[in-house]
Amino acid sequence: MRSFAGRDILSLKDFERNEFMHLFEIADRVEPIARERRNSDMLAHKTLVTAFYQPSTRTRLAHEAAMHRLGGHVTGFADAKMTRAGDFYQESIKDTVHMLEFYGDVIVMRHYDQGAPHEAAKWSSIPVINGGDGWGEHPTQVLTDLYTVTKEMGSVDGKSFLAVGDHRMRTMHSLGYALSQFDAEMVILAPDEMSPLPEFLAELDEKGTNYRIVEHIDEAIADTDVIYMEPVVQPDYTKARQDKAEVYARTAANYQVTQEVMKKAKGSSIVLHSLPRRDELLPEVDDLKHARYWQEAYNGVVMRMALLSSILGVWE
Ligand code: CP
Repeated sequence: MRSFAGRDILSLKDFERNEFMHLFEIADRVEPIARERRNSDMLAHKTLVTAFYQPSTRTRLAHEAAMHRLGGHVTGFADAKMTRAGDFYQESIKDTVHMLEFYGDVIVMRHYDQGAPHEAAKWSSIPVINGGDGWGEHPTQVLTDLYTVTKEMGSVDGKSFLAVGDHRMRTMHSLGYALSQFDAEMVILAPDEMSPLPEFLAELDEKGTNYRIVEHIDEAIADTDVIYMEPVVQPDYTKARQDKAEVYARTAANYQVTQEVMKKAKGSSIVLHSLPRRDELLPEVDDLKHARYWQEAYNGVVMRMALLSSILGVWE
């Protein structure tokens, strides 16, 4: 297995099965620290730099919380507008990263440009974690999600994932790449205008991901183990931010999970949603035994603890 020490986490395209398993095992080892709400001193001499060019609640704060749980330090920005990258100068990724690398030991970056964290990694002497790049990928989210499935259902192997929502979305891409390393099925359900791009499907074919496309939720819901959701009422992920809309579109019933829909699902199935949500996942589902998105959010801290400690060489 390739070492995680000093490694950039930019994509799940090249992640191997034993690397997923390794991170799940490390996550199990550090999880008691989060569960007991303790802060350890594992990364006492390390600093995380957050570089968020797009809004985030979970990804930025879960990385920060993970660093605090491991006794490390955090610096960075949550709004590029208050930096020289977001003002008159429009400072480049290269110049910005050449500053950030002096401020800490690992960078987590979210950006509206697909490939921006990859560009950062090219210039950075410290590891870069992709916290979501445009429509591109969201590797740490999907690591969290597959860890959640492992904890809740024993294994990713043998599971059928109904991936419902906008398939241009970065999580869907990382999920498709990741599932190529497991004996799992990805069932794709999306509105026509949010269908997976042909280039992405070609990559899944090349990687050997077992996928099929359905047109109606009823074609898959009864056989699904994991209902993996993304909104279809989305902002444009190529923009730095989009403020509150005057009027929100409503999610069509075919892409919505409700108590009524869940009556058709397997008793053992679980619902994951990386959040935030709109009306595709009604709050009434929160009360069902299937809901696991709060557990998923908790695991988001645990998986970032596993990643940060691995990248910063604790387990070598
Ligand atoms: N799941 C997720 O990426 O959420 P944020 O946009 O709040 O980081």
